[in-house]
Amino acid sequence: MEDTNEIHSMPRIGDIAPDFEASTTFGNLKLSDYGKDSWVILFSHPADFTPVCTTEMSGFAEEKKWFDDHNTKLMGLSIDSIHSHVAWVNNVKKNTGVLFDFPIIADLDMKVSKMYGMLQPGESETSAVRAVFFIDPKQKIRLIMYYPLNVGRNMDEIKRSLEALQTSDEHGVALPLNWKKNDKVIVPPPKTVQEMTERENSDLEMVDFYLAKKSL
Ligand code: BEZ
Repeated sequence: MEDTNEIHSMPRIGDIAPDFEASTTFGNLKLSDYGKDSWVILFSHPADFTPVCTTEMSGFAEEKKWFDDHNTKLMGLSIDSIHSHVAWVNNVKKNTGVLFDFPIIADLDMKVSKMYGMLQPGESETSAVRAVFFIDPKQKIRLIMYYPLNVGRNMDEIKRSLEALQTSDEHGVALPLNWKKNDKVIVPPPKTVQEMTERENSDLEMVDFYLAKKSL
């Protein structure tokens, strides 16, 4: 029986995103140049001209302005050729009017997919799984999602996760279960007795001293 537990490189949360230069539908791009001073969402799909992938790519395309407004650039990837990508972009545009207006990497030699652990042989030997890497403006990987071939991702969760990361960075807070924009946020627990005493006299919404919330 085949060994599907072979070790592949898997970037982790907190790692600097491995840099690469790749052929894309927007020409040759280097990740560190493309993502200079902005967030990047790097996501893979198993194959062009397949149904679930078409819904996902269309979903990203329809939210492009939202991502622009959140200082975030999109970059897709699959192990298909540039010709296939361009034909698919053209086909979807003709059929639905939606333009995939962001670069899609043609990772024919699987260089980037291997670098990012997007090849998971137990799921597929020949296609990338549905991965999503959230990379911040300092090129650090902040959140990773992996989905299998037969389950499409959730755009609301992708947007929520990005807003949560950006809110946490901007305000130094944490976000509770099911948090969404405009909900209360968690103030980090006190680290000294003095901070704890001050907290008792504050107007934070408190379950106990270690679980306190506020509105932004
Ligand atoms: C799809 O996008 O529909 C798909 C792609 C590869 C395997 C299974 C489904």
